Amino acid sequence: MSAIIDVRQLRQSFGERTVLDGLNLEIEGGIFALLGPNGAGKTTLVSILTTLLRPDSGTARVCGHDVVREPAQVRRMIGATGQYASVDDQLTARENLGMIGRLLGLGRSHAQERAAGMLDRFGLSASADRRVADFSGGMRRRVDLAASLMRTPAVLFLDEPTTGLDPASRAQIWEDVASLSAGGCTVLMTTQMLDEAEELADRVAIIANGGIVADGTVPEILSRVGEETVALVDEAGQTVRTLPARATAGGLAAALAGLSAEERTLRVDVHRPTLDDAFLALTAQRAEAVAA
Ligand SMILES: Nc1ncnc2c1ncn2[C@@H]1O[C@H](COP(=O)(O)OP(=O)(O)O)[C@@H](O)[C@H]1O
Ligand SMILES: [Mg+2]
Repeated sequence: MSAIIDVRQLRQSFGERTVLDGLNLEIEGGIFALLGPNGAGKTTLVSILTTLLRPDSGTARVCGHDVVREPAQVRRMIGATGQYASVDDQLTARENLGMIGRLLGLGRSHAQERAAGMLDRFGLSASADRRVADFSGGMRRRVDLAASLMRTPAVLFLDEPTTGLDPASRAQIWEDVASLSAGGCTVLMTTQMLDEAEELADRVAIIANGGIVADGTVPEILSRVGEETVALVDEAGQTVRTLPARATAGGLAAALAGLSAEERTLRVDVHRPTLDDAFLALTAQRAEAVAA
């Protein structure tokens, strides 16, 4: 089966700045998180995949359709929310969804019915007839999400869907994304938050310096950065020594037998590499390779 999203040798520069430098990525389905620091090129990639930006070179296909040669076919398969969400502040939530339904070609009563269903699904029924301008950040984000789902998309693009939201609203969006995915929708989300990727995504890719520096499940990525270690920690919380956690019992015993009497009073901690560690290690490696 071919990938739902297939990106090959994608390049994009803005003036002197090369943002995507021959990026390759294949996504098969489920929830996929694209992780990267601010300025890494996440929005640029999403803009290309949603046909809003034409790449300098390379190819990108969504559901088998080329984003440059077949933009209309791509748009028919996708939903998107992000910085460029089309919700109008001056309209009510219901008016917004109804209008988007009409723009998508639904008849008036079908659009109204669908809008009411979406408002209900996202817990917005009680506020449906208030102007979006008066909504909280979390409610607004839910209107964006509802708007992107007025037609059920095969692929949903969410560009930093929870940035700037309070923890309760974030958790609510996470639930919505998980239930969409359970319904068969492929989700490509971008995030700067490692915990978000770890919580939600089936697979993760880390974007840095114009390319994908790691791609896989969270455990796969973690296993690339290192093993669990046993750390000996002093009272101030400083790590004094580190031993491999997967050593044999004999190996550990020998290492521990070499400790001084003073070192024997140290606290023992098991350290598992986190996605933070992976992120730092992998983005640094790529930076070195680029500098060399
Ligand atoms: N339309 C544009 N014109 C000029 N520079 C841009 C434009 N869009 C993005 N950039 C630059 O490209 C880089 C990547 O931006 P972006 O894709 O928005 O990153 P991210 O979404 O990962 O934070 C940034 O340095 C940004 O300033
Ligand atoms: Mg962005």
